[in-house]
Amino acid sequence: MGELRTVVITGAARGLGFASAVRLYREGWRVVAAMRTPDRGIPLLREATGAGEDDDRLIGVQLDLMDVDSVAYAAKSIEERVGAPYALVHNAGISSAGMAEETDADLWQRMFATHVIGPVALTNALLPSMRAAGEGRIVLVCSSAGVRGQPATAPYSASKGAMERWGESLASEIAPFGLGVTVLITGTYDTEIITDAGTTDDRDFGGPYARLHQTMNTRGRFAMKMARSPERFADGLVKALADRSPFRRRAVGPDALMLLVSNRFLPSSGMHHMSRIVLGIPRQGSMRNGAYPLTVTQKAMVFAVKVIPQPVMQRIVAAAAKRSAAKQPPQQQTD
Ligand SMILES: NC(=O)c1ccc[n+]([C@@H]2O[C@H](COP(=O)([O-])OP(=O)(O)OC[C@H]3O[C@@H](n4cnc5c(N)ncnc54)[C@H](OP(=O)(O)O)[C@@H]3O)[C@@H](O)[C@H]2O)c1
Repeated sequence: MGELRTVVITGAARGLGFASAVRLYREGWRVVAAMRTPDRGIPLLREATGAGEDDDRLIGVQLDLMDVDSVAYAAKSIEERVGAPYALVHNAGISSAGMAEETDADLWQRMFATHVIGPVALTNALLPSMRAAGEGRIVLVCSSAGVRGQPATAPYSASKGAMERWGESLASEIAPFGLGVTVLITGTYDTEIITDAGTTDDRDFGGPYARLHQTMNTRGRFAMKMARSPERFADGLVKALADRSPFRRRAVGPDALMLLVSNRFLPSSGMHHMSRIVLGIPRQGSMRNGAYPLTVTQKAMVFAVKVIPQPVMQRIVAAAAKRSAAKQPPQQQTD
């Protein structure tokens, strides 16, 4: 890279934003790391990059996307410190777990404030200088869950989908000024957002959707084991920042790529059924009148009981009980 280019990354304190900030700094970019808590995040970024306190290639800016004043103030400080940034990466995000019926209005508002309203406001505030510069890129960190609405995360899916639609509109509007938009359809990466602790969890395991939560929870945990390192995500971002076309939609990660390909070739009804089967969701109508369809494991157990002779079955059950007892931690002495 010849001239010094500036990239603003939101949510740079941890996860994908942190890994991306480190990578782009190492690639020679001037990185404006926007975050809720720069006092905590910037020293960590300095440590990871080796940047000194007076290094003007690593700049911290305070930004809370849910606070309109904070967004306006962040845009002002970015322009004061670096002028028009070349790139703006909307990475900050939050996740949720729970059926739409289980979620409240506050969660929907937080999702749309973080993924749509805040990013739109920050972009609008920076666009006059970016348009004047006549070149630049806006990158939206979207998600597989936003390509199609996924069950048990409707506020996240809806807001990430809205983010994509905004990006498409924006690309047509700003392309004549020399700017472009890249949407990153992000697969599964090993950060806090995919853990219970990093998610607003409204799932009711005793409520009407318990049967759906049961299989989705097990299969979701299995999928988490496939999560790739945040550093791999940065590879995709580096490519996005090199994009020059007015609009580009890229998959980051093999799972995201597979989803985009299936979504392109399968009809919507096919995608619905594929997602239903992958997540272990019972068929339409199968839970009417309080019915509770068996899970695949339960069905396999029923089948096994029918075909395996009783003495063999008893031995299997005894062995399983022994193995599970061996896994239990020793009981604490209470007296
Ligand atoms: N990891 C994945 O598998 C995956 C998959 C698809 C899409 N994504 C997307 O990738 C992006 C980054 O997620 P991640 O995996 O890095 O998750 P993460 O580790 O939980 O990081 C999320 C970041 O967003 C910031 N943030 C949240 N709300 C904010 C707000 N109101 N204002 C400013 N910053 C805010 C957080 O700041 P604090 O540190 O202050 O909380 C944190 O830095 C998100 O948009 C997410 O939807 C991730």
